[in-house]
Amino acid sequence: MTITTLDTRSAKPLLDWYDRHHRDLPWRVTPGMAARGVKADPYRVWLSEVMLQQTTVQAVKLYFEKFLQRWPEVSDLAAAENDEVMAAWAGLGYYARARNLKKCAEAVAREYGGVFPDTEEGLKSLPGIGDYTAAAVAAIAFDRPAAVMDGNVERVISRLYAIETPLPAAKPLMREKVALLTPAVRPGDFAQAMMDLGATICKPKRPACSLCPFRGGCEALKLSDPELFPVKAAKKEKPVRHGAAFIAVTGDGEILLRRRAESGLLGGMTEVPTTAWTARVDGETSVSAAPFAAAWQFSGTVIHVFTHFELRLSIWRAAIAGPVARDNGPNDGWWEPVTNLEAQALPTIMKKAIAAAIPLAFKTSKG
Ligand code: ADE
Repeated sequence: MTITTLDTRSAKPLLDWYDRHHRDLPWRVTPGMAARGVKADPYRVWLSEVMLQQTTVQAVKLYFEKFLQRWPEVSDLAAAENDEVMAAWAGLGYYARARNLKKCAEAVAREYGGVFPDTEEGLKSLPGIGDYTAAAVAAIAFDRPAAVMDGNVERVISRLYAIETPLPAAKPLMREKVALLTPAVRPGDFAQAMMDLGATICKPKRPACSLCPFRGGCEALKLSDPELFPVKAAKKEKPVRHGAAFIAVTGDGEILLRRRAESGLLGGMTEVPTTAWTARVDGETSVSAAPFAAAWQFSGTVIHVFTHFELRLSIWRAAIAGPVARDNGPNDGWWEPVTNLEAQALPTIMKKAIAAAIPLAFKTSKG
């Protein structure tokens, strides 16, 4: 494929489109302002980008406001209690990211006097900041010409050039194309425009090609079906694992909780007692694995899809008179009022498990 200087000029219609149709997001500055020296706050950009790797823009807005209210500056987040940060993150998933978020804030506060480094290299030296986040923060907060590659951008670029190589093998070529398209002026707006275009026009299904600023040059559109791009390699099925979770509630409305081991999946988060999640068949998921003898009642199965496996958790519920010692497994954990569950660092799978047994446990939560 020959690359001509025309590629660079194509940024212009995209930026014009962005000026009119950009999404108003709480961590953004008005389009065009960065080139005039009004730049976005790196702390806000970094926080939003880490959160956006987890969930939708809509869901992130709520978490973003909550974090900023509680920790307005990176130094506030650095000084926060780990448990509080984990609890505020609960529901966003992939908790290693929350731990790295905290470590990164501490590194910025300690090693950089509370000021984020302004280059991709400097940003990448911080805990939890990889290629994507470094490029996004360098572009959006510091207006650097960094190639910001996420799923939206990959889709746009794969269609624009009708890239036949499947993902992930096509990533280096896609990055090269984006780097060539990135303009020297307003590179940060360009990066955000590519993301907005992917999210609102160049959507996975039924893209709105007639509204697209790239419609004149889009090779996938010329081939008639942009939905064929990006080409994906065949997907592997996720293994299925099984486990059981036990929801014990006292007459005073307290539930037995405990803390997961610091390392490993959902490390340091709060949970109800569960068996190991390693079984590939329905063994070890019965009431025999309960933490103590009680009138356990089966309350259904909750399914949660993690990155590397699907978990099917059998839910058991028991109403008991008051706190009891555990006679099966470690005698750890604590009894927490059900009315205080929102304040706990409960990952989504645990919220689903508790909600299966106590339907009104999370009245306001999306988890
Ligand atoms: N998705 C991830 N980062 C984004 C951003 N900065 N703007 C819009 N969508 C995004």
